[in-house]
Amino acid sequence: MKILVVGSGGREHAISRKLLESPKTEQVYVVPGNDGMVQKGIALQDIPETDHEAIIQFATEKAVDFAIVGPEVPLLNGLVDDLEAAGIPAFGPTKQAALIEGSKDFAKQFMKKYQIPTADSETFTDYEAAKAYLDEKKAPIVIKADGLAAGKGVTVAMTMEEATLALKEMMLEAKFGEASEKVVIEEFLAGEEFSLMAFVNGTEVYPMEVAQDHKRAYDGDKGPNTGGMGAYSPVPHLAKEVVDEAIEKILIPASSGLVSEGRSFRGILYAGLIHTEAGPKVIEFNARFGDPETQVVLPRLESDLVEIIWSLLHDQKPEVHFKQGGIELGVVLASAGYPDHYEKGAKLTGLEHISSDVNIYHAGTKLDSDGDFVSNGGRVLLIGLQAESMVAARQKIYQEMKKLENPAFFYRIDIGLKAE
Ligand code: AMP
Ligand code: GLY
Repeated sequence: MKILVVGSGGREHAISRKLLESPKTEQVYVVPGNDGMVQKGIALQDIPETDHEAIIQFATEKAVDFAIVGPEVPLLNGLVDDLEAAGIPAFGPTKQAALIEGSKDFAKQFMKKYQIPTADSETFTDYEAAKAYLDEKKAPIVIKADGLAAGKGVTVAMTMEEATLALKEMMLEAKFGEASEKVVIEEFLAGEEFSLMAFVNGTEVYPMEVAQDHKRAYDGDKGPNTGGMGAYSPVPHLAKEVVDEAIEKILIPASSGLVSEGRSFRGILYAGLIHTEAGPKVIEFNARFGDPETQVVLPRLESDLVEIIWSLLHDQKPEVHFKQGGIELGVVLASAGYPDHYEKGAKLTGLEHISSDVNIYHAGTKLDSDGDFVSNGGRVLLIGLQAESMVAARQKIYQEMKKLENPAFFYRIDIGLKAE
């Protein structure tokens, strides 16, 4: 088969590699992709993920068998709808179904209606009303921009000063543009966070193994929120009962609820969860594979990803099994200064010394005129490997990360530490 992958990050690199493992795959095309993805069987085409017409034209020319849309922006722009309308089978939710990620207010109302456990919240479009609610509820409290903000639209405020500042920036100064015209103010929840993704087709739910992301920029979960600085899967200190409860009370009712709302979902439903004293609760839904979770979950998938997606596209039941035992760990190398201001174009040193038995997933890299990789984004790449235990995984991965050390970059040294 010929398969089109839309997106350019580490997630799309991991998806493309997994597709290539299938004996059914002849060629993967990635639009726009990044230079680090290119290998035998994976080719790039430089089309922006927002140019639906050019993507459809390319997919038609290459006669692709199906497409997978990775990132949230093209999903919410309706790329899956447009591909399908052009006769190209596309794996990913329609624009209507992707709203579960695209609007926090929609997601909160939806969860309320279908009794899916989540933090109590209210939505506001008026600053004075929001401020009055904040004064009543008090810190700690969480302020969220309603729309997409590249993972940066959430402030977990431990003090009233932080909460008020976040509210002002979002509602009065349009920090996230239209995305923060509406703001959700939410109860602060304490507990262990985990990510649970599932292949979904309407009411059918096929869960993957759980993973844990590390969202803050610096060690000890300090610093600003990022797209994710590292991850591992499975999460050994999370009881199976908690995961089962999350599937029963969250993923299944959410998928059925979306069908009832006329927004039937086909694609990857991602639940960002927190294990509270009252059980797992939803922090957010995403309408796609998580990044960097995908880079540690897909390597453990033993079933054929092409067969899974092909089955779901044909309303058949897929086989979904994961490797038992061991652990997959991934650490992100980021540009110094990320998630705030950072420079691009720094040479990546030491890549040639990385052991051949680890996975390198490129995210923000490109080849310069000398044929060397240079940075081209905040998250540059992720090194991933599997080991029998977290202790062994951490030892090995940090030996590898040392080879990439360079003042232009940084990484967290405590990824997976909690699971040792
Ligand atoms: P999000 O962008 O929705 O994933 O939120 C980013 C991060 O903020 C999450 O990974 C959590 O660590 C934190 N967060 C979001 N909502 C809450 C909440 N209600 N209580 C505590 N922490 C939260
Ligand atoms: N790792 C979180 C996300 O993909 O949104």
